Amino acid sequence: MKRGKFITIEGLDGCGKSTQLERLATVLRANGVDLIVTREPGGTAVGEKIRALILDSATLGLAPWTELALMFASRAQHIKEVIQPALTEGRWVLCDRFTDSTEAYQGGGRKLGSEPVLILHRTLCQDLWPDMTILMDSEVAASVQRARRRNKARGKGDDACPDEGRFERENRAFFGRVHDTYLAIAEREPKRVFVVDARKKLEIVHKEIVAAVRERLGLPG
Ligand code: TYD
Repeated sequence: MKRGKFITIEGLDGCGKSTQLERLATVLRANGVDLIVTREPGGTAVGEKIRALILDSATLGLAPWTELALMFASRAQHIKEVIQPALTEGRWVLCDRFTDSTEAYQGGGRKLGSEPVLILHRTLCQDLWPDMTILMDSEVAASVQRARRRNKARGKGDDACPDEGRFERENRAFFGRVHDTYLAIAEREPKRVFVVDARKKLEIVHKEIVAAVRERLGLPG
């Protein structure tokens, strides 16, 4: 059985990646690709519990190293339970965020650096890297504004009803570092990472993504 392809999508909060991932999945399915769509943090029962804990703005005082460890705890489970079995069965895996998010947010945003992220990835993820990563390059200011709007609309999370606003409380400097780290990853790994300008219209971005996937991975049928 031929191993499936592993595609991840990355970018700042609010860059439109989830919509693009769904649109890409529709095109791939129409081309006869058997695929699953999943996300991080999360993607498994254990991972979704970790997600609720990490993203909830009611989670106070989480040390950056703890945050890093929890991201990898979720990922290790996700790889073992979902990603690796699907790839082995020949299915394609489309994943909303992966280790590049950890390098950008914890390595860059939280200033832990890239090295510990890459070291942990090697061990905890058996150095599994995507065949292709789509990086949606967007304005830092747009993410900050969207985060503010969301926070206003949602109110505060509590134990009974966790929200997903902890990262959205971060400031412009934080998202600036996340953005810079993403671009540094793309520069370091041009073969894996395809950068698309997410400031363009949704339809144009979609077409560029589909063309790049066709060119880099080929499509069956
Ligand atoms: P996501 O659900 O993709 O949020 P959005 O749709 O707003 O982009 O991701 C949730 C948050 O988790 C996002 O702010 C980025 C953060 N995150 C990390 O900080 N490190 C990681 O390794 C991952 C996977 C996500």
